[in-house]
Amino acid sequence: MNRPFEQVPKSWHEQIINLLAERVVIVDRNGMILYINEGYCEFIGTTVEEAVNRPVQDVIENSRMHIVAQSGQKELAALQKINGSEMIANRFPIFENGELVGAIGSVMFRNPEEWRMYKTKIQSLVEELNYYQAKVQRDLRSKYTFKDLIGSSPAFLAVKKLAERVSGSNSSVLLNGESGTGKELFAHAIHNSSVRAAFPFVAINCSSIPEHLLESELFGYEDGAFTGAKKGGKKGQFEIANEGTLFLDEIGDMPLSMQSKLLRVLQEKELHRVGGHKPIPVDVRIIAATHRDLEQLVEEGKFRQDLYYRLNVIKIDIPPLRERNEDIPDIAKALLNKLEPKFYRHGLEISNEVKERLMQHSWPGNVRELENVLERSINVLDGKTIQLVHLPLYLRDQETKSKEENDGQSFTRSLSTPFRSSIPLTVQPLKETLAQAEKQAIQKALTMTNGNKIEAAKLLKVGKTSFYDKCRAYRIQ
Ligand SMILES: Nc1ncnc2c1ncn2[C@@H]1O[C@H](COP(=O)(O)OP(=O)(O)OP(=O)(O)O)[C@@H](O)[C@H]1O
Ligand SMILES: [Mg+2]
Repeated sequence: MNRPFEQVPKSWHEQIINLLAERVVIVDRNGMILYINEGYCEFIGTTVEEAVNRPVQDVIENSRMHIVAQSGQKELAALQKINGSEMIANRFPIFENGELVGAIGSVMFRNPEEWRMYKTKIQSLVEELNYYQAKVQRDLRSKYTFKDLIGSSPAFLAVKKLAERVSGSNSSVLLNGESGTGKELFAHAIHNSSVRAAFPFVAINCSSIPEHLLESELFGYEDGAFTGAKKGGKKGQFEIANEGTLFLDEIGDMPLSMQSKLLRVLQEKELHRVGGHKPIPVDVRIIAATHRDLEQLVEEGKFRQDLYYRLNVIKIDIPPLRERNEDIPDIAKALLNKLEPKFYRHGLEISNEVKERLMQHSWPGNVRELENVLERSINVLDGKTIQLVHLPLYLRDQETKSKEENDGQSFTRSLSTPFRSSIPLTVQPLKETLAQAEKQAIQKALTMTNGNKIEAAKLLKVGKTSFYDKCRAYRIQ
């Protein structure tokens, strides 16, 4: 039977090809150009005579036609950079009697209008992608150095010195300190002054990743490891951090099952992706951090002792702010400088009374709480100097309380009891009083953490679930 195409006169073929696609190239098995149309030649700044019978990769920038002519694998909608623009190329192998004989390729866009539409749509997507890729790369760099760690109290300087000294070594570091003491800042600084500084700094928060995702997040997965797994698999944070530093924040919250897997990787210096069989070597320095007492967790059977020893090679205890309150004015100044651009302000100051007040407070939320207090103050500040009235209520309240305590005489007299305190005179059931105190404590903690519930739960030393339950019960948003 006559195949319909054979009825199409041969003399029409070239025209048909050129109408179907504006830029076409045909190569033989060795990637030599057999045919290239004028549109393509014009686009790449050559002529048909010059291009034909030459290796395609010498004529067309970033061409993969010679590869397709060898592999027999078609490539559809592949991005190809030509003349500084990302073009979309389709490449098909050509078979004759089942044998691979060459390939045909086309680059899309038939007219300037199509090109313009493409440019506005796809090109902007490509640019966006490039932007985010660069941003991810930047984020993988650590941002802070020891210079950013403010404080000159002996307690703080000793810790800073220890951290600086150990940054050159490859041993694991365990940063211990209350919430907001600067554990993450220390981790950045240690990485930045180590020989690994040019390589990635990858931070992962063990408490914020659901248990079933933690393994693939840390170790990555192979193609088809589970339903919904990305095609081609995915690198885990360990692999991304290769040659650099992996910061395991909130290590005390890592589930026991993951602790064993982590220990194995640290000992063997190689990992297995989820669903993968071949071991992948990794060279990563671990900096772990926690606000919890790991030794106690070990005693309670909630943290593996062997992992604890492995991580605890160098332990750095960051003192809470209340134990170094002489650092508060300097830190407050530095934080103010950091906050100014966010509010388009400049030259902000802190009054002496405020400095004193800040030094009196016990800062359960440490530097982060101080940062939040300053941010709130800037919000209500018209002039340049932060005064007592600009402080949040709970810090201003301290004044009232200590005043009452100092000249508490009138108060005691009116109470006509031996107690000298600020107990309200009305009495209500104990249950309600406790509930009220609990509600106030929660609200205060939320104020200190700028509404961050996880941080607030940490401050109050209660579990996340019970904290959320209480918020619901007291209708706290
Ligand atoms: N010594 C310091 N000098 C200047 N800024 C600091 C200092 N310590 C902490 N900060 C700032 O305080 C904030 C909290 O620090 P960081 O996130 O490192 O604390 P953390 O110990 O990791 O807290 P958490 O346990 O809640 O995660 C950050 O904005 C950080 O920049
Ligand atoms: Mg932290």
